[in-house]
Amino acid sequence: MRTVDLIQRKRDGEELAPEEMEFLVNGYTDGEIPDYQMSAFLMAVYFSGMTDREVSSLTECMLHSGDTVDLSGVPGVKVDKHSTGGVGDKTSFIVAPLAAAAGVVVPMMSGRALGHTGGTLDKLESIPGFRTDLTPEEFQKQLAELGLCFIGQTERLVPADRKLYALRDVTATVESIPLISSSIMSKKLAEGIDALVLDVKVGTGAFMKTQVDARRLAQAMVGIGRRMDKKVQALITDMNQPLGYAIGNALEIMEASQTLQNAGPADLTKLSLELAARMIFLGKKAATLEAARMLAEKHLVDGSAYKKLKQVVTAQGGNPQALDKFELLPNATGMREVTSPRAGYVSRINAQDIGISSNMIGAGRDKKEDSIDPAVGIILEVKMGEKVDAGSVLCRLYYTKEDRVDEAAEMVEDAFHISSQKPDERELILEVVG
Ligand code: URA
Repeated sequence: MRTVDLIQRKRDGEELAPEEMEFLVNGYTDGEIPDYQMSAFLMAVYFSGMTDREVSSLTECMLHSGDTVDLSGVPGVKVDKHSTGGVGDKTSFIVAPLAAAAGVVVPMMSGRALGHTGGTLDKLESIPGFRTDLTPEEFQKQLAELGLCFIGQTERLVPADRKLYALRDVTATVESIPLISSSIMSKKLAEGIDALVLDVKVGTGAFMKTQVDARRLAQAMVGIGRRMDKKVQALITDMNQPLGYAIGNALEIMEASQTLQNAGPADLTKLSLELAARMIFLGKKAATLEAARMLAEKHLVDGSAYKKLKQVVTAQGGNPQALDKFELLPNATGMREVTSPRAGYVSRINAQDIGISSNMIGAGRDKKEDSIDPAVGIILEVKMGEKVDAGSVLCRLYYTKEDRVDEAAEMVEDAFHISSQKPDERELILEVVG
């Protein structure tokens, strides 16, 4: 078999057989297939798509590219949550402790920043000392003790996703239903879950720009889960503006911490409670979804979920005090305000451009080997529907290096649309699939 022939066949829209997919995934994971050939293959998939059979075989090959975790020794139903990626999306740090505080076992394997969206691992690593590279043994031990653990793909766990994910990030091949679904589902199936709640984002800040595509992505993942005997439910949620107010790694940890102390933004709190409730229900900790919603709310208000996150941070080597004393988190050295050119209503915020601007000042990567700056990002002052005066602050950029601040500030200013008409309110949770 030759890689170039498989790239060519995919480019021309042909279906690849499971053994051909295996050749590509194993060859790339082992370093025999170089980045340039895999990049070409990913671009061919981006344009030609994949059949259901191909998506299933790609997911299986990625899942078996390393070890899988057997959690049968840890009592309880194991439920995880995963988002398809958005801007300012820090629900994982709120949802996972809420569900764990209610008794659900939450093994959470996440990724790094991808495209214009932030990554759970990068955000967690902004907490001084926090380790996401636990061994499978450490992962199981912590789950048994605390009911929650955050990890990333490693050389042992889904190494194929680890490599492909990083390559997709810098080759403009993220926005592809087969690539997103196989990436997410291979990680989730490898970590030993029984059930999964998916947050499929749609809108300007999401990889899926239309509800039809978001539904197709949700159905693809629910289908993979069903074929593997897992309960999977997907919420399709609006990403036409950033979630909450904070965008950027340490900034998002701060906002998640405030939200777990019941002092967070309304949209972030609402979505987190709903996702947690669905996990609690699938985790069989409540007899009905309504009872699960009440349980999620209780664990937010009584502070037990916040306490759970602190325990997890401590167990993974991080400094839990950083969740209260934000001066212990990486902090930016410079700040630039972006103001409104005119009076009116905020009618649109292009979330993708906000994400790209945040990356420009260092919150994301341009090349695989780039490191991110955990301190930088953007804090919105206003959200859609709010009234502003000429000169009102729309948002603030926090940076540590000056080089691209002008360019980023310009892009952010263009991302806000101010009009004389108040826009219609948008629903946050649009649809449930599965
Ligand atoms: N999250 C993932 O893990 N993979 C993707 O491709 C997109 C979001």
